[in-house]
Amino acid sequence: MPGRTRTRARALAAVALGCALAAGTATAAHAAPAAPTETAAETERAQQSGLREPADELGLRMGTAVSAHLLDQQVYRDTAATEFNFITHENSLKWESVQPQRGQYSFADADRIMEFAQANDQEVHGHTLVWHSQLPSWVEDGNFSEAELTEVTTDHIETTMGRYAGEIATWDVVNEPFNEDGTFRDSVFQRTLGEDYIAQALTTADSVDPDARLFVNDYNIEGINAKSDGMYALAESLLDQGVPLDGVGIQGHLVVGQVPGDVRQNIERFTDLGLEVVITELDIRMDLPVTEAKLERQAADYALVMDACLSVPGCSGVSVWGVTDAHSWVPDVFEGQGAALPIDEAYAPKPAYWAISGALGGATGPGTGDPDEPGEPGEQDCLVTYAVTSHWGQGAVVDVTVRNDTGEPVPDWSLTWTQPAGERITGAWNAQVVQSGSEATATPVAWNGTIAPGGSVTFGMQIEHGGEAASPAAFALEGQTCRTG
Ligand code: G3I
Repeated sequence: MPGRTRTRARALAAVALGCALAAGTATAAHAAPAAPTETAAETERAQQSGLREPADELGLRMGTAVSAHLLDQQVYRDTAATEFNFITHENSLKWESVQPQRGQYSFADADRIMEFAQANDQEVHGHTLVWHSQLPSWVEDGNFSEAELTEVTTDHIETTMGRYAGEIATWDVVNEPFNEDGTFRDSVFQRTLGEDYIAQALTTADSVDPDARLFVNDYNIEGINAKSDGMYALAESLLDQGVPLDGVGIQGHLVVGQVPGDVRQNIERFTDLGLEVVITELDIRMDLPVTEAKLERQAADYALVMDACLSVPGCSGVSVWGVTDAHSWVPDVFEGQGAALPIDEAYAPKPAYWAISGALGGATGPGTGDPDEPGEPGEQDCLVTYAVTSHWGQGAVVDVTVRNDTGEPVPDWSLTWTQPAGERITGAWNAQVVQSGSEATATPVAWNGTIAPGGSVTFGMQIEHGGEAASPAAFALEGQTCRTG
């Protein structure tokens, strides 16, 4: 498997916030700590499962596009946090979102996504600064002179990038500059500034945040064709001129059964120029209705794209365009088509999900993988660890972590067990724990109501005991006995 041996393309940001939860509970020996923020609980989940964990191990960015308003939904947040280490603003950094009127900037949605990503220790891809679409009419129809449009564009880049300098790792500085035949697309930028608008935008971006990795991004450039030849010629020319171009974004809006056979070779020719490549907006759509055969074919297509990226050291990431099929742009634009993403509308992993996971060196389905992976055959669909983090006289603090290995979210979870004889639970945090006789039940608090597929929840308890804190013999999640570890 090429991905298993690939060079780490880029060290992902160090995991830091997760330690906060552990540290918080460890200090709780004599007084239960304040409940951690939602943020910390999400961070804990995000480090433990799904596509993210094998991607983290490989040093690969595994991303998704996120919409700010959907962050209101807990299961959306959980899934975005658990499965991905890389987040793209789907719409909230586009020109019409950020500067709908000249000089009137609005960053509320973009800030919200930044806060989410930072809370979950995720890298962020900035999308996008200069694009002909989702461009407000004051720019599009402004009849600006060359000097005026340069000023307007420079201000937009400086203000938008400047706000997130040091926080956004990679930027689509220019989006979709090409026609299908590889010539430059007509746009207000191209018409007014000529093709040099691309070099100007990159140079301005570099002056705002010299550490950000600067990309030009386009679609239908997955294989070697006239359009990707145009991108290749542009990249060569920019590099020859010393323009600060770091990478090429290959969007990856594909159709089941029509993935080009030369994606790897195409990626490689860009990395041979010294550029980084990210598959920035991957989705592989199908004609509806969904059938098993189409899902299997889609899975094979996702594996092709993953393997192509993983086999080229300079391909540093793959991002899917939406958290689930319910959030995909595809049905809105392609009538009768959809189901383009690896997780379905009900948040269930599709064959494509397991194909991606397998390509990353993770599990290839519920019932595969090593014994620590979700769903090992013959094992139960949940794993509980019960760890005494602090112990004194006749008291102890324990952390209980319950992992959902079912492949389905577990909403309003309930964990039950028998507390060892003579032990009494005197306090709990991050869950509501009720003890009746020796029978104990834990249920969620506001921020951890659903355990995402492959995700986990950790809660803490203070125990009174007769001198030794013993572990319960067994736990059941929703009535089903879990493995213990
Ligand atoms: O925000 C308004 C809302 O107020 C209004 O009620 C609603 C009515 O239609 O529209 C909302 O705006 C929509 C916006 O997404 C936010 O949801 C626009 O109509 C809709 O056109 C827009 O679509 C986005 C599209 O870019 C615009 O070109 C998609 O969500 C987004 O996925 C898509 O993403 C693009 C990438 O940026 C570039 N590559 C191609 C990719 C797919 O088209």
